[in-house]
Amino acid sequence: MMAFSPETHAAAAEIIARYPAGRSRSALLPLLHLVQAEQGSVTTEGVTFCADTLGITQAEVGAVATFYTMYKRRPVGDYLVSVCTNLSCALLGGDEVFARVAERLGVGHDETTPDGSITLEHAECLAACDYAPVMTVNYEFYDQVDPDSAVAIVEGLQAGERPAPTRGGPLCSFAETSRQLAGFADERPAGVAGPGVGEPSVAGLLLAEAAGWRADQAPAPLVAATPPVAGQGTGPAAPAAAPVPVPAPASSERKGN
Ligand code: FES
Repeated sequence: MMAFSPETHAAAAEIIARYPAGRSRSALLPLLHLVQAEQGSVTTEGVTFCADTLGITQAEVGAVATFYTMYKRRPVGDYLVSVCTNLSCALLGGDEVFARVAERLGVGHDETTPDGSITLEHAECLAACDYAPVMTVNYEFYDQVDPDSAVAIVEGLQAGERPAPTRGGPLCSFAETSRQLAGFADERPAGVAGPGVGEPSVAGLLLAEAAGWRADQAPAPLVAATPPVAGQGTGPAAPAAAPVPVPAPASSERKGN
């Protein structure tokens, strides 16, 4: 078994100590990120390390490591570029973004550039549909990219730069990000200083404020008035729900106006 560094052993002990006695197996997820931080993927040695450290079987570790997409079975470069090609992003050009980035890097899905620096992957929804199409580098967001801007980002990476993400802190290496995902804080002051929520994420809130909508004035739950589907249930069909009136936004009611 390949020896992990003393730092990784110490970090593993620190992670396990966060959990109640007798519940150390709950530390598996951060421990997998930890071994990935040292080796660039969850290797056979990493699986064995987690199993031995937590007193569980390699099969149990493997079952978890192969279930979640953030645990990599092949070495990842310094930068993991994930291009979302799920529905919202696909409708707005995500596939073309992926194709152009793949062409520029000369690699396809789940492949790494020959110099070992950049790994590319298709990603399912990255939970940022309000900024579609999006891509991430080491899980930091680059919002509303297009093929040209996405290629410019990976060209920056190839030139040794770290293009600033749209939100969040400055870019880290994959190893640094993996260590943070294991539960160790980003030591950089700027790491938590970047922009957080953007306007698309609060568009509904702003609309509600503009319209003067309040949660305690919401209409009765629609589900209570929804008629049963034919063939389901035993009682008579309930009358169709009356349409719920939707007030028009009144910009004059916005705060500050
Ligand atoms: S579909 Fe791309 S972020 Fe949701």
